Amino acid sequence: MTTLDNHPDKKLEEYEIDTLTNKRLLKDHEYDGIRELDNDLPGWWKWLFIITIVFSIFYLVRLWVFRADDLIQAKEFDKEMAGAQASKPPVAEFQISLLTDAVSMASGKETWTKICAVCHLVDGGGLVGPNMTDNYWIHGNTVEDMFAIVTNGVIEKGMIPYKDQLSPKQRLEVVSYIINEIVGSTPATPKEPQGELIN
Ligand code: HEC
Repeated sequence: MTTLDNHPDKKLEEYEIDTLTNKRLLKDHEYDGIRELDNDLPGWWKWLFIITIVFSIFYLVRLWVFRADDLIQAKEFDKEMAGAQASKPPVAEFQISLLTDAVSMASGKETWTKICAVCHLVDGGGLVGPNMTDNYWIHGNTVEDMFAIVTNGVIEKGMIPYKDQLSPKQRLEVVSYIINEIVGSTPATPKEPQGELIN
């Protein structure tokens, strides 16, 4: 117990002693007759306080003197982003090459009949859009050429871009369908050739 006796640094006359507890009372600290004891801070509290000061010194030295990466938020952010980027599996690039399997052909045919036939006719003979059965092409006859036209369209000539309406897969399917099934077939009412003859 802390009493005046074991506080040799305090002068007796500076304190009043509580008669009940025999402890120091705070001067000038009275409310409605209630007075506070002038207790020392508990040891554990003081040690905690000292530890926080010691910690802050280490922390500041690491942050400002050694510039520890993981304490500087901007650097930490960059590091995390780089890590996230690195752990992402690489996105397989979409391969534009002719499909021939039955499932793709069926899907391509569906798109063709539902969307493209309005202008190119179901048998590809051509109406608003050019004849797809002949070997005359305005924009080329390779998978890449046709994929690009279906993707970006030729707005000023009336060919709609389908990059938002059809997925890359769907576009490739319908283009493959044209190449495999429409080109070289005999339509009922073929439109006159447009573009250049490509064999
Ligand atoms: C609104 C009418 C319209 C629709 C619908 C349409 N097209 Fe076209 N398409 C055209 C026109 C018009 C052209 C000719 C563009 C030009 O003259 O440059 C064309 C051209 C093309 C060409 C290039 C032909 C060439 O000679 O180079 C391809 C390939 C094509 N369309 C595929 C498609 C596909 C696939 C669809 C369905 C997903 C489709 N089109 C739907 C009107 C249409």
